[in-house]
Amino acid sequence: MTSLIRFLMCAPDHYDVDYVINPWMEGNIHKSSRDRAVEQWEQLYHILKQHAIVDLVTPQKGWPDMVFTANAGLVLGENVVLSRFLHKERQGEEPFFKNWFEENGYTVHLLPKDLPFEGAGDALLDREGRWLWAGYGFRSELDSHPYLAKWLDIEVLSLRLIDERFYHLDTCFCPLANGYLLYYPGAFDAYSNRLIEMRVAPEKRIAIQEADAVNFACNTVNVESIVIMNKASNALKARLTDVGFRVVETPLTEFLKAGGAAKCLTLRVTEPLHQEIHANIPVQSRVIRLEGHLLDSGLINRALDLIVDGGGSFQVMNFNLGEQRQSTSAAEVRVSAPSHEVMEEIISQLIDLGAVDLPQNERDAKLQPVLQAGVAPDDFYVSTIYPTEVRINGQWVKVENQRMDGAIAITQTADGFIARCKILRDLEVNDLVVVDVQGIRTIRKTEYRENRASQEFSFMSSGVSSERRVEIVVEQVAWELRKIRDAGGKVVVTAGPVVIHTGGGEHLARLIREGYVQALLGGNAIAVHDIEQNIMGTSLGVDMKRGVAVRGGHRHHLKAINTVRRYGSIAKAVEAGVINSGVMYECVTNNVHFSLAGSIRDDGPLPDTQMNLIQAQEEYAKLIEGAEMILMLSSMLHSIGVGNMTPAGVKMVCVDINPAVVTKLSDRGSVESVGVVTDVGLFLSLLIQQLDKLTSPYVANVG
Ligand code: ARG
Repeated sequence: MTSLIRFLMCAPDHYDVDYVINPWMEGNIHKSSRDRAVEQWEQLYHILKQHAIVDLVTPQKGWPDMVFTANAGLVLGENVVLSRFLHKERQGEEPFFKNWFEENGYTVHLLPKDLPFEGAGDALLDREGRWLWAGYGFRSELDSHPYLAKWLDIEVLSLRLIDERFYHLDTCFCPLANGYLLYYPGAFDAYSNRLIEMRVAPEKRIAIQEADAVNFACNTVNVESIVIMNKASNALKARLTDVGFRVVETPLTEFLKAGGAAKCLTLRVTEPLHQEIHANIPVQSRVIRLEGHLLDSGLINRALDLIVDGGGSFQVMNFNLGEQRQSTSAAEVRVSAPSHEVMEEIISQLIDLGAVDLPQNERDAKLQPVLQAGVAPDDFYVSTIYPTEVRINGQWVKVENQRMDGAIAITQTADGFIARCKILRDLEVNDLVVVDVQGIRTIRKTEYRENRASQEFSFMSSGVSSERRVEIVVEQVAWELRKIRDAGGKVVVTAGPVVIHTGGGEHLARLIREGYVQALLGGNAIAVHDIEQNIMGTSLGVDMKRGVAVRGGHRHHLKAINTVRRYGSIAKAVEAGVINSGVMYECVTNNVHFSLAGSIRDDGPLPDTQMNLIQAQEEYAKLIEGAEMILMLSSMLHSIGVGNMTPAGVKMVCVDINPAVVTKLSDRGSVESVGVVTDVGLFLSLLIQQLDKLTSPYVANVG
């Protein structure tokens, strides 16, 4: 054999499944046959020797996974980055591999302690030598990648693994000769798949199915046109043969029990250097600071989870734990991401949690002009419900009109800069819009700890309440309604037609009559059903008293619409005495503003229904202004619409029989929102009873 290609292997003298550090090992402890393992390993050794030189490192007792030499380190030219194993079960292999590399004349680079990186198992060179693909997510840290780039002077493309069965990059990814790539897309996140697709032309990508992937078909040793693997389906073999590869299958079932196969059992130690290639590392990092009840409120967990879920990794640099229950903690966290795009995504979510830059790193927000009316620059920062500030010319400017899903537009006036949230359609040419995620912070209150302890209205436990908690929420809402009414505050109700079907109409009408509601938002339907009920006694043709369908009743709601249309508006129909009770009647007679937003399925509509949706959104926004509490009663569409326009700090109560709606609305990450999964009619009747209890003891019971 004249090949100059060399591999390193380690005989399976001490191989066994002794512990579980990956899903393949589960249930396989001491289940592999020594004899068969030796036989399979020798077969692989034999095949490989026909195509390359194979060196051997001495196996060591007590280190059963040492057969997987792919994990010894990563070699390029004379340089080796030695592995730092994540699990202590394998850390003992490190010195033996180090010795071998040194004895064979390599320059060995050692990563910092506690920065795991598992060698060629997680880092694979493009076979044309153009770049290095490096995996992270399970065994290797993203933060190890910049070291690889520096020491090996090569561009590193980071790929995030998301399926724990494919915990090493070489279990699901194999660059082949001539620019081909054998891989299992399901093992990677969307961003990584996009990166792969950008770098490897479609005709060069050999994406395999799960069935081949679980046979470790990607765990292939490629020497020129030969590909050696455990097993491949006929379809895969045909595919590889078509593009000029010769597939050699050799069973490695005993090693599969430890989560490895052909490629894992080998390490290519001759990887030629390509002179024209140089380091170019897109991995970015940024240090952020979080302060507050980091532990009590789970903030730190949420922050770290979202970094990892977003495709980044982190290092907690400093953590100052608050000692007393009331003291806050502070943490400095280094966030790393494989690209600026991913970093932006992560940082924007951290900003929502209140993360800020270290003072010495603070910079002005980046601004870009609007070039087309109603269209923001591509990279615009999407606003949230939280009070936000942006840094302009070294000054933090508070953003006005805070709402979610807008852009932050800056205008300069004689008295300085004004920043405000604008929805896309309101952007004007030359408005300056905040782009990227620099120079932006949100102000999160930290005093929640005290509030929680107080007996007052505590919407603190955000999340869906169980049935058992309905009564507690009712008590709190009643208390708050009364307080707001007495202080002349503002409560807004969004309501769907279910309020009427479930018999809640009379209760809502009473809330309005007694001054607990200052604005009503809904669609055409709530008004139609309410009016139908009050002029005909049915709701959608169902008798509200007896709960049975009335013959021909389905026409009732159209008759109700027709009647209102005849008078020109709900108010005129009330004035004419046609409507003399109900929710809409109370709104009109008590001067409570309402806005009815139309939709495609509306019958009629009523003359009052605003069919111009942009107009309707504006009316809604106006009515919400200054609200202290919003009661959302069984209307997913209108409630979500309202939620989007409402800044943090407004108490929101969402009542719906459908838990999905409640979760969606109460999950604003805001402690002020609470959800109740229950029948809205029942909720309203309990609420009325509770309000009666709160108000009646002071009044002598006459008559
Ligand atoms: N049991 C070993 C581990 O979990 C298997 C290593 C397989 N090696 C590889 N390059 N994928 O670490």
